[in-house]
Amino acid sequence: MTIEDLIQIVKEAGNILLTAKRPKIMEKAGHANFVTETDEKVQRFLVDKLKDVLPEAEFLGEEDGKDAFSSKMASGFCFVIDPIDGTSNFIYEYRPSVISVALLKDGKPYMAVVYNPYDDMMFSAVTGQGAYLNGEKIMSSDAPLSDQLACFGTAPYYEEYRDRSFDIAKRLLPLCVDLRRSGTAAWDMCCVAIGRCGLYFELKIQIWDYAAAALIAVEAGCSVTDIEGRPLSYTGASSALCMARGVKEIPDCFK
Ligand code: IPD
Repeated sequence: MTIEDLIQIVKEAGNILLTAKRPKIMEKAGHANFVTETDEKVQRFLVDKLKDVLPEAEFLGEEDGKDAFSSKMASGFCFVIDPIDGTSNFIYEYRPSVISVALLKDGKPYMAVVYNPYDDMMFSAVTGQGAYLNGEKIMSSDAPLSDQLACFGTAPYYEEYRDRSFDIAKRLLPLCVDLRRSGTAAWDMCCVAIGRCGLYFELKIQIWDYAAAALIAVEAGCSVTDIEGRPLSYTGASSALCMARGVKEIPDCFK
């Protein structure tokens, strides 16, 4: 399987988002935790196509309802898929939403793509080979945080993280130019990777939201850890902190 194979398949999946009309919406556990029939359709499409290219791989998709932390992710190949990261954005047509696919090899990200079909922006990376946007190499910004935007996520259904997230955000704002919250974690991390933003954080996030974007960000020179500065977990949910090259230390608001 090559990165070009993965890009081609995800690009085709992007057409499903672009042509979807008024999808049926289902609710999952917690406040405003949605899934649509388009999420399920995109995931089925990706699994079918990727199985043809790499039959030995396991799959972990946001919408397959399986235990996210099973041992199948630890060895061999495993695709980690978020068919629509930014499902609420998708429902309300508040762009963007992205498709995120990571290929783990022995429990670590090996290949990744994040695709924003609305702007035809295809981010990709292979470990040790740099990060790319539509085939052009990208690098995160080397400007200090005080000269950059910062962004964060906080899912409405993880209510126990809400107060602390907004408290950190309130203390982060004076340290940067301004704050953004796009509604898609994978997109936020790609914005740090491409130099649109200096820092992204989220206190609880699932592996399918960050596995692909984390590799793209690392390959673009970012530091990607949990909010304590420890290596990111690839066995389940985690906090996440992604800092561009110019942000040398974890800001005090996280302490
Ligand atoms: C969510 C988005 C959101 C982030 C949540 C994610 P979903 O993904 O990335 O920005 O705050 O943590 O779960 O549910 O739209 O795929």
